[in-house]
Amino acid sequence: PNFTPFLAALPKCEHHLHIEGSLSPATLFRLAKSNNIALPAEDPAFQSIEALQARYERFTSLDDFLGYYFIGMRTLLTVSDFETLGYEYFQKAHADGVHHAEIFFDPQAHTERGVAYKTVVEGLTAAQRRAEADFGLTSKLILCFLRHMTADEAGKTYQEASALGHFSDGTVAGIGLDSSEVGNPPEIFREVYMSAKDAGLRRTAHAGEEGDSTYISRALDLCHVERIDHGIHLVDDMELLKRVAANKTLITMCPLSNVRLRCVTKVAELPIRTFLDNGVRFSINSDDPAYFGGYILDNYLAVQDAFTLNVAEWKSIAVAAIEGSWCGDDRKTVLL
Ligand code: ADE
Ligand code: ZN
Repeated sequence: PNFTPFLAALPKCEHHLHIEGSLSPATLFRLAKSNNIALPAEDPAFQSIEALQARYERFTSLDDFLGYYFIGMRTLLTVSDFETLGYEYFQKAHADGVHHAEIFFDPQAHTERGVAYKTVVEGLTAAQRRAEADFGLTSKLILCFLRHMTADEAGKTYQEASALGHFSDGTVAGIGLDSSEVGNPPEIFREVYMSAKDAGLRRTAHAGEEGDSTYISRALDLCHVERIDHGIHLVDDMELLKRVAANKTLITMCPLSNVRLRCVTKVAELPIRTFLDNGVRFSINSDDPAYFGGYILDNYLAVQDAFTLNVAEWKSIAVAAIEGSWCGDDRKTVLL
């Protein structure tokens, strides 16, 4: 049977989406021009939209991708740029059947180049309000710390958001940890995670994407995260996997990302069958859709292509995604 209409209509929640990773090459070039931002002239990838798109199909690793990701976002300067970025994502998400989205943003990548934290959040929250009014799409912001930067720098960013009241007023729902994983283990950021826990914030971290399964156990044990982003190496430690299943810890999987960044050679290599058989809860997400060749529905379709799941299995995935969301119980009831 053709599962496309069923998967398109399935109510989805997205939990692993870097908003800066939804910056399309077309918008990137347009903003570079209007904001007068020079793109690297020495890299032939920046000669045209098509050349850049083609380069995105040849990433060799997470770090290879991150180089382009951090250059691309240099074109974002104003409140309006961030609002456009956010709203363009919400439009695509809505078209793909997303009802609730919890989106990552990387404030340090902006403050480091002179764009104020407040500018970023003002633009993104404006987009959130419009998406809810226009589509009924609810959303949350998750502030990510860049793990290639220091714990001290993470602490400063945390303090800035806290001082603006963004944690207590719900503008930012939780924290995350992203960028280069190997060599930058979660416990470096233990202190900021403990502050977040004390403040009643939700907590997640990228773990087990390129890093081994101990990055997952260390994120859980030392940083008290409630979710694991990617988590593909969880299958290398079955005892840990059973604990994650028992605790209903949500794994936010990103199939097309894992293939593009060569964590696996094909979607069929992902541990989706093992997760289902062992009761590990997971959601399916797009990570950086403008860079990895697809939005959330493309990821659902790629999983179906690789695993031919049945309707009951898909419904269990959709329910796990709702239950693992960080919205209130009232919203969950509506989504279920
Ligand atoms: N930042 C954006 N996408 C990322 C990913 N897949 N892993 C780590 N950091 C990221
Ligand atoms: Zn990610």
